[in-house]
Amino acid sequence: EPLVITDKEQMRKWSRAMRSQGKSISLVPTMGYLHQGHISLVREALKLTNLTVVSIYVNPGQFAPSEDLSTYPSDFHGDISKLMSVPGGVDVVFHPPNLYDYENDMKRNKNDQGVRKNLEGKGAVVSCLEESGMGHETWVRVEKLENGVATVVTKLFNIVEPDVAVFGKKDYQQWRIVQRMVRDLDFSIRIIGAEILRDNDGLAMSSRNVHLSAEERGKALSISRSLLGVKSAAENGHINCRELRDSVIQAVSEAGGKIDYAEIVDQESLQAVEEINSPVVFCIAAWFGKVRLIDNIEINL
Ligand code: PAJ
Repeated sequence: EPLVITDKEQMRKWSRAMRSQGKSISLVPTMGYLHQGHISLVREALKLTNLTVVSIYVNPGQFAPSEDLSTYPSDFHGDISKLMSVPGGVDVVFHPPNLYDYENDMKRNKNDQGVRKNLEGKGAVVSCLEESGMGHETWVRVEKLENGVATVVTKLFNIVEPDVAVFGKKDYQQWRIVQRMVRDLDFSIRIIGAEILRDNDGLAMSSRNVHLSAEERGKALSISRSLLGVKSAAENGHINCRELRDSVIQAVSEAGGKIDYAEIVDQESLQAVEEINSPVVFCIAAWFGKVRLIDNIEINL
């Protein structure tokens, strides 16, 4: 049975004690309600280091105000028993009640727009962004990734002090952002990207799938099906991204999905490309009912 640690000082103490004994540590960050996709990351981690820590923390900072924080599923005891069934075993589950004073941050943000939004935050650069069409929606999205995910991941890295951290390619952009942050800021942590685990019907596993009705779930298969279609089309010489993109948008829309974005981008820079002649990834986000699903497929021609 894994040791459950809720206190961050205790977590750091454990980690330092183990490292002083020469043990290496992997971290698998999660928001809980674990499924086999998470478990596959744990299995990766087990191969790489002596000890494995899984963190379970639903990070309020990465949910936009309109998003599903309040309905995000959780089942701590179920999570523990799933982790107990992994051969080789997880050593620690880090389950902090909160990692920062989110309530206060929220209030401060509402009242004074946050410290960042004054002075430099009001200056010419911001006006340029506004002129270039980077509107509020985009800003919120960027905030989610930069100040939501990057912040919590940094905190987890500083508390757990792992040698290795494993992320799923399911959240492709998240994985790339963390990888870049670690490289650019010289964190001494190796970042691993693990392949997407899918259900037998092709749907990428996600904690949010539980909110799909049977009908919605059937329709949502249009995502993985059309992504696979694009991959084989590309492999057969169809490298025009506009056409490939249109085919996915059409298939998913016809199935009743509301597309948020569907883009073929460079695997490293995540910049959109027009033709596939280098490693790319097709990333899509679409709503089925009240559920926002994301998925992607790498294409290496
Ligand atoms: P969560 O959505 O719980 O996902 C935790 C990890 O599991 C992420 O690295 C994600 O990419 C991976 N994962 C989810 N579904 C997967 C699948 N079907 N196949 C492979 N990997 C999968 O992502 C987060 O939590 C949070 O943003 C977090 C990194 C914990 C920061 O709060």
